Amino acid sequence: MKATKIKDGIYWVGAVDWNIRNFHGYSTEEGTSYGAYLIVDEKVTLIDTVKAPFAEEMLSRISDIIPPEKIDIIISNHVEMDHSGALPAILEHCPNAAVYTSTPSGAKGLAAHYGDRGYLPVKTGDSLSIGKRTLTFVSTPMLHWPDNMVTYCPEEKILFSNDAFGQHYASTEHFDDEVDLPLLLSEAKKYYGNILMCFGRQIQNVWNTISSLDIEMIAPSHGLIWRSHIEDILKVYSTWSANNPETSAMIVYDSMWHSTEMIAKTICEAFADSGVPARIYDLKANHISNIVPDVLTSKYIAVGSPTLNNQMMPSVSSFLCYLKGLSPKSNREAFAFGSYGWSGQSIELVEKELEASGFHIAMDKIRINYIPSEEHLNEIYENVKNMIEQTK
Ligand code: FEO
Repeated sequence: MKATKIKDGIYWVGAVDWNIRNFHGYSTEEGTSYGAYLIVDEKVTLIDTVKAPFAEEMLSRISDIIPPEKIDIIISNHVEMDHSGALPAILEHCPNAAVYTSTPSGAKGLAAHYGDRGYLPVKTGDSLSIGKRTLTFVSTPMLHWPDNMVTYCPEEKILFSNDAFGQHYASTEHFDDEVDLPLLLSEAKKYYGNILMCFGRQIQNVWNTISSLDIEMIAPSHGLIWRSHIEDILKVYSTWSANNPETSAMIVYDSMWHSTEMIAKTICEAFADSGVPARIYDLKANHISNIVPDVLTSKYIAVGSPTLNNQMMPSVSSFLCYLKGLSPKSNREAFAFGSYGWSGQSIELVEKELEASGFHIAMDKIRINYIPSEEHLNEIYENVKNMIEQTK
């Protein structure tokens, strides 16, 4: 297989995972890729590897440029196995290569996965000369594990960003200007929402360091390389991590006999008629990982469930569990709604979960026995409009 030149002497030697459809719970309809980068300098350097089953693909792309035995240095920006899984395979070819990783988490994590091979620790501000080029390191804890770091090459103005700025998007193209930008930004938003949303504070902590770098190219370890739209991707990351949602709304629900759905539609109308853009997500039709990115940009979140066996519906429970883990918490207004037959516990359970996720409860929960009447729906519409008026 061929390597792709991204600059003179620097190559993408990763792998494309066309058919993955579930990435630890994240629905990856567009597949993904694992970015590894080869720098041919006095010291031949490999930045990150790929998921273990793709080791041969990476090795064949490296061999397109140079025998893998000639690799002197491996930089491991991240321990997670989609980027380190092929480390043992590459080290079979170059057992004496020096492996640099973050301290202490990178070295500890690699040792736990692959045994202690004398990993060389680096920290923010450290740099390494590989010949004509220098590599400098910035620790980026929780983007997306504690061990994460990014590697910057000042001579080439390339940031090897690992998970940050990635997209789960398989393609034969390699650069942001070779595909549709709105589609790419949408995949970047989905990626951020599902992988990084809960780490906005940690991103803000390193933001000044990263955004002050002179960058001509961002080479992530998933998806396409940013070279023409660097400003766009930096801008959206800055906005998302600042956790200031737009004034828009999302309504998420499941329904048994359409009563909770009728309430959902009425709530949506109230938002729309108040000038607040809103989207409805029926959990029967939408995977949770396709819904949560909207939390990034939604100020209002309404979640509804009928009562099933004294509980909320499992689909709603699953969504709320996922949301709680990813929750950006502050600056958002939430409320619960639903229809019930006799016991009606689901609505209170939903409200408790929304509270536990750190959202402000904006209005009384909406509970309707069996089927909402015209009067019920009118009252819900007015109550939601009033709430919007008070919180806008
Ligand atoms: Fe793409 Fe956190 O690994």
